[in-house]
Amino acid sequence: MMRSILIANPKGGSGKSTLSTHLAAWFAWQEEAVMLGDIDVQQSSRHWLAMRPASSPQIRSWNINDEEKAHTPKGTGIAVLDSPAGLHGKQLKQALMRVDHVVIPVLPSAFDMWASADFFNTLAEVKAVRREQISVAVVGMRVNPRTQSAAQLTEFLQKFELPLLTCIRDTQLYVQSIQRGLTLLDLPVSRTKQDRLQWQPLLDWLVSNKRQHR
Ligand SMILES: Nc1ncnc2c1ncn2[C@@H]1O[C@H](COP(=O)(O)OP(=O)(O)OP(=O)(O)O)[C@@H](O)[C@H]1O
Ligand SMILES: [Mg+2]
Repeated sequence: MMRSILIANPKGGSGKSTLSTHLAAWFAWQEEAVMLGDIDVQQSSRHWLAMRPASSPQIRSWNINDEEKAHTPKGTGIAVLDSPAGLHGKQLKQALMRVDHVVIPVLPSAFDMWASADFFNTLAEVKAVRREQISVAVVGMRVNPRTQSAAQLTEFLQKFELPLLTCIRDTQLYVQSIQRGLTLLDLPVSRTKQDRLQWQPLLDWLVSNKRQHR
């Protein structure tokens, strides 16, 4: 059964494309047939895919803008959908029609948290979310553990009924690997042990939290 994951936060630069590419790469390593789509005009995910070495597990690109209904190709196991800053209204609604999970990356800054709060409230009113047909979770991005900002993000999220699955630390490794069409999850395990531990709760949540595809 195909599953679709939307990565969204209307706040720009919150880590959507970083999160999308990492999830796609991880599922590709699990030998899933992965499609990475991008409803962003920047097409960040597609540019990244073009850089991806042929020796890395394959991720297929999914050009959603080509087809109105945008069905994923037959045989797709996991579809990861990156989205643009400012996603709202009809475009958000359309994206939500085709997904089982929404993962929201949030930076630990006051501006980002305030902006995300509006988005959390919007999502909470979506029928498929209320009916638990779509599961929603938050990931702290560029949050170093045991810092004040990590504590503030945790406290902020307690006001919403949303799980903070994990926090991903701030490191140039993310910037450098993305530039090469890779992710940290494509690098040797020996170099990324700590980081893999940070990704694991999100991966577990996606794997265990199976929804009936609508
Ligand atoms: N954990 C991290 N550590 C260091 N840098 C990071 C991390 N996550 C993301 N970045 C950097 O932060 C910037 C924004 O990340 P990204 O492009 O993933 O956000 P985005 O939400 O897709 O942005 P946009 O809204 O413009 O699409 C990028 O330069 C990226 O390399
Ligand atoms: Mg992006």
